[in-house]
Amino acid sequence: MLLIRGGRVIDPQNGVDEQLSLFVKDGKIVDLFPDAGQHKHNLAGARIINAEGCLVVPGLIDMHVHLREPGHEYKETIETGCRAAAAGGFTSVACMPNTSPVNDNQAVTEYILDRAAKSGCVNVYPVGAITAGLKGEFLAPMGELREAGAVAVSDDGKTVKNSELMRRAMEYAKNFSLPVICHCEDTDLVGNGAMNEGCTSMRIGLKGIPNAAEDIIVAREVSLSELTGCRVHIAHVSTKGSVDIIREAKSRGVNVTAETAPHYFTLSDESLETFDTHFKVNPPLRSARDVQSIKKGLKENVIDVIATDHAPHSSLEKDVEFDYAASGIVGLETALPLALRLVTEGVLTMRSLIEKCTVHPAQILGIPKGTLGRGCDADITIIDPSAAGRVDVSRFKSKSRNSPFNGWEVEGRARYTIVKGRVVEEGCAPG
Ligand code: DOR
Repeated sequence: MLLIRGGRVIDPQNGVDEQLSLFVKDGKIVDLFPDAGQHKHNLAGARIINAEGCLVVPGLIDMHVHLREPGHEYKETIETGCRAAAAGGFTSVACMPNTSPVNDNQAVTEYILDRAAKSGCVNVYPVGAITAGLKGEFLAPMGELREAGAVAVSDDGKTVKNSELMRRAMEYAKNFSLPVICHCEDTDLVGNGAMNEGCTSMRIGLKGIPNAAEDIIVAREVSLSELTGCRVHIAHVSTKGSVDIIREAKSRGVNVTAETAPHYFTLSDESLETFDTHFKVNPPLRSARDVQSIKKGLKENVIDVIATDHAPHSSLEKDVEFDYAASGIVGLETALPLALRLVTEGVLTMRSLIEKCTVHPAQILGIPKGTLGRGCDADITIIDPSAAGRVDVSRFKSKSRNSPFNGWEVEGRARYTIVKGRVVEEGCAPG
């Protein structure tokens, strides 16, 4: 039993934003009541958490993480990835299929779920592959993946190059009510590019990747969604063009949603001047103009979700020449304070920010999470929005340290992460 007292409860799904106490029993939310109000519950034996000055929100959901297990356990395991999630305030994560072996069949999905049940402290929702082995040649068995517990399909990390195959993938996925999460990059335009194409790439002499590489595939996925009626979710949006295309598609009623990651609204390609490989990510950090458009897209709800694209890599892959370095940023333990900056800057209201990290990802994935309604699973994040700290990668719960935010002074952290009524993390990142 838990009583969470005195916090500002924000539950966008139920239109709640007020000071309330929350009573949890047997892993479920039993009741919410005004602090001073009468209630009928016997609180004997309940743990009491004082949430004064804090936000009490539905457990945060990160719909885009790489847990690396099976196959790349030296970078992350389901256990360490879940601990990083809990430290960052996330109670649920959806994990991408680019593991080894690839999650393109029932056995791998079941393996992930089994490992998560045994060693994971947060809810893990596997995303299955669109094509066998992520090779872009044959469709993966989506019905089997769905039955085993996959909540979406994606070839994340790679674009399905063949448009005909992507059309069939969408038709197939629609039959199983699976959303298709699209990694959008025209591989020919990307070539051997290592960063955004623009003034900075010209100045420092690294091969650039034009915005068009992303925009072209986003436009294709929107067209294919219109053709097939399949639900399409655009992963890690980084360009102004993508935001414009998605805005226009939504205005016509196309079944498309989108996400971006904190690094795309926090950093620009100018950071690459240091040649620090921690800034290397895929798609690449874009221009300051793109960063403004991403913020506008978030504000206007063109971008529905903030997801981390948590992509752990070891120093073996990062401490090398820029061209050879792996792409990716670990995001689970820094996302919350970076996202809260959007509220401080006036880009988002707190309610809208919470929506993008709870209700929206839950709806897109079709999972029964993201709300604090009575009778729901007691997945709760208690956030202290003004706690100041310094990001220290050496204290990360993640196995990997590839964050460009090391040493940053940030504000806001999860104080408690609660999964099905159990406190899985206290204190929480960063610092
Ligand atoms: O930077 C990235 N890293 N982008 C992706 O799409 C894949 C990810 C990874 O798996 O490392």
